[in-house]
Amino acid sequence: MQMFFNDNFVCLFMVSGRFSRSMMLFEEANRYVAGGVHSNFRYREPHPIYFSRARGSRIWDVDGNEYIDCVINMGACILGHGYPKVVDAVKDALDYGLTVGLEPDIGVEVSKQLSRMIPSAESVRFSNTGTEAVMHAIHIARGFTGRYKIAKLEGGYNGWYDYVLVSSHPSIDKAGPPDEPVPIPESAGLARGVAENVVIIPFNNIEATERIISNHRDELAAIIVEPVMVNSGC
Ligand SMILES: Cc1ncc(COP(=O)(O)O)c(C=O)c1O
Repeated sequence: MQMFFNDNFVCLFMVSGRFSRSMMLFEEANRYVAGGVHSNFRYREPHPIYFSRARGSRIWDVDGNEYIDCVINMGACILGHGYPKVVDAVKDALDYGLTVGLEPDIGVEVSKQLSRMIPSAESVRFSNTGTEAVMHAIHIARGFTGRYKIAKLEGGYNGWYDYVLVSSHPSIDKAGPPDEPVPIPESAGLARGVAENVVIIPFNNIEATERIISNHRDELAAIIVEPVMVNSGC
C-alpha cells in the first residue's frame, strides 16, 4: 500500500496505482466541462482523479484504485459513504416527492432538531452548497452590523462567493508581506470592489491578526475562518 497526497488536499491511501481512465476522462472533460472540472479546487496536476464508487470509509476511482477517504466530502459525509440510515431516509424522501419549490413540512422538524443539538444555531436556513451558506451568512452579518468588509484567512477557502474567493492560494510574488497580506482575487470576473472590501489575515499569526482586525474594527461585518484549513493541506 502506498501513501498518496493529492496536493496535500485529499489525503488518501492508495492500494494500486494506474490512472489511465482518469486521464482519458479528463481529456474528454476538457471538451465538455468548463475548465475541465466542476470546481476549480478539484483540479490537480496532471489531471484530477475521477471517482466512481464510495462506501463507508472507502472510495474507488475509475481505474479501480481503492482509497481510505480521510476527507469524507469535507466532513459532509461524517457517517461514512452510503450509511444505511441516511440512504434509507433519502430513498423514503423520493417516495414523497423530492422537491416542489415550496416549504416542506419536514424542514420545520429538522430545523427544530438542529437548533436543539447546536446551541449556537438559534435558527436555521438550509442551502444547497457551502458557497450559498457562506453568502447568506455574509448578507446577514452585513445587514445586522451595517458594515461591509469581510475578513478572511490567507490560504482559507470558503467557497466561490465573490467576497471570499480571494487569497485562497495567492502566488507568493503577489501576496504582499507575510504579516500584512494583500487581497488577491482568485478569478477574473469577480464583483468590483472585492479587493477593497476583503481584509486578509495571515494564518497562525496572532499578533498580525489582532493588529489587522483592530485597524478595520469599525468596518468589519464578519470574520470567516476555516478552522481546519483542509483546503490548504492542514
Ligand atoms: C471550508 C469550506 N467552505 C465553503 C466551501 C464551499 O462549499 P461548496 O463547494 O458546497 O459550495 C468549501 C468547499 O470545499 C469549504 O471547504
